[in-house]
Amino acid sequence: MSGFSADWLTLREPYDLRSRNAMVLDAVAGQFEPNFSVQIVDLACGTGSTSRALGPHLPVRQNWRLIDNDLGLLARAKAAPVARDTAINVIPLDLNRDLEAALDGAVDLVATSALLDLVSEQWLDRLVVEIVARSIPLYAALSYDGRTKLTPPDPFDAEIAAAVNAHQRMDKGFGAALGPAAAGFAIARFEALGYSVVQGTSDWMMGPDDFEIQTEILAGWAHAAHDMGALSRADTTAWLTRRRDSIAAGRFSLSVGHIDFFAMPSATR
Ligand SMILES: C[S@@+](CC[C@H](N)C(=O)[O-])C[C@H]1O[C@@H](n2cnc3c(N)ncnc32)[C@H](O)[C@@H]1O
Repeated sequence: MSGFSADWLTLREPYDLRSRNAMVLDAVAGQFEPNFSVQIVDLACGTGSTSRALGPHLPVRQNWRLIDNDLGLLARAKAAPVARDTAINVIPLDLNRDLEAALDGAVDLVATSALLDLVSEQWLDRLVVEIVARSIPLYAALSYDGRTKLTPPDPFDAEIAAAVNAHQRMDKGFGAALGPAAAGFAIARFEALGYSVVQGTSDWMMGPDDFEIQTEILAGWAHAAHDMGALSRADTTAWLTRRRDSIAAGRFSLSVGHIDFFAMPSATR
């Protein structure tokens, strides 16, 4: 499965849903509680998981603009069932090129998930500046922060984790990616520009029942380690084989660190 394939996004969605930080979601909900309706732009929406996760926390009448550059994912987002009084419009855009167009028009809230760790410092700064210029809030969920824990431990885990974090910093279409540093960078920029930020962790916690997703994640990490030349092919294969054996024996658990945050103009609190 590729990093943005519909199969992968479908597999991860329930893990994302249960990991989203409740305090951050409460802050988003509290901000819009007095509203009768809300207009949301979801940047890099994939199949629409953010609208499904956030929708129940927002006023009943919702108008979503779902933006992505993958027409197949947008078609799935458009076809997914929605609640009454919720309108979903899908908009194909390359966010690297057309970020400003994505934010045009009436917007009460910008939302995104699993995007910020893919983007460059320059692009993220551009996003922060555009949002602050419009004096609107941002809910950004599930930015990978570089923390991983594999149980039981293996002698090669540290090399694999270092390679994964180095791979995260490679260009994903927005210039050299911030990877694990992304959420911290965005939060610092918002605070420097006078925004208030509520933040919390949203770590994936996986145990012996989570066979399929653990297998996918570790295969991806082995690929990353191979791409980065971190270990020999034989050592990487041996590591993956030991990890697959642990998963198959129901002895493996995995946590992957993420950060959620809600940044809002201070005056609107
Ligand atoms: C990791 S997925 C997250 C999808 C969704 N937000 C979620 O949490 O399930 C990253 C998304 O970014 C989109 N994407 C990547 N580069 C993009 C670009 N230049 N413009 C618009 N979308 C882009 C991909 O198509 C994919 O849907």
